Amino acid sequence: MTRIGIIIGSTRPGRNGEAVARWVHEIASRRDDAQYELVDIKDFNLPHLDEMAPPSLGQYTQPHTLRWAEKIASYDGYVFVTPEYNHSTSGALKNAIDFLYAEWNNKAVGFVSYGSVGGTRAVEHLRLVVAELQMADVRAQVALSLFTDFENFSVFKPGDHQVGAVNTMLDQLAAWSGALAHLRAGTTMATPQSGA
Ligand SMILES: Cc1cc2nc3c(=O)[nH]c(=O)nc-3n(C[C@H](O)[C@H](O)[C@H](O)COP(=O)(O)O)c2cc1C
Repeated sequence: MTRIGIIIGSTRPGRNGEAVARWVHEIASRRDDAQYELVDIKDFNLPHLDEMAPPSLGQYTQPHTLRWAEKIASYDGYVFVTPEYNHSTSGALKNAIDFLYAEWNNKAVGFVSYGSVGGTRAVEHLRLVVAELQMADVRAQVALSLFTDFENFSVFKPGDHQVGAVNTMLDQLAAWSGALAHLRAGTTMATPQSGA
């Protein structure tokens, strides 16, 4: 069965990201098109990237990298749950993405973001990043407003319409995650340097 990881992109104490990701997981768990799991990057204690070789060479040496790689490799697709920090994603999520390469390739990704304008600027940046990782980013995204989907910017109370937005994004994500599994099974990946 298609496996999709819902990645909590914030590690800050008191983060809103955990409540958002748990809500996405709860909605996803009612579906039967994929197996959905929460992945908390906080659990992996990743330092700032500390591998000698570029991740695209796949020469991972650090125990935390190997553990993170094994986790990410186990999925066919991902939901990135991202805050917006200074008009981009969090440093923690970018760093966690940067640690790996082949584990992301030819897989699908959808976005759930939150911020004063729905975290949309963070997602636009992430779309550029995932293109470099040969990921297929679905069009539909969930943009949660700190003003209307939270109370006091900290208690998560999403509008009812957001459930439909999550399901539309997951419809697209599950379809592409399944389709790309065939591609991964049948092709040799391009050499890492070829598109650099
Ligand atoms: C360092 C930092 C920068 C931020 N910059 C923005 C921003 O550019 N745009 C925005 O809409 N919200 C911004 N915010 C507000 C965050 O979107 C909001 O605090 C959100 O809850 C952060 O996610 P988290 O609680 O999961 O860490 C910023 C917050 C922090 C901590």
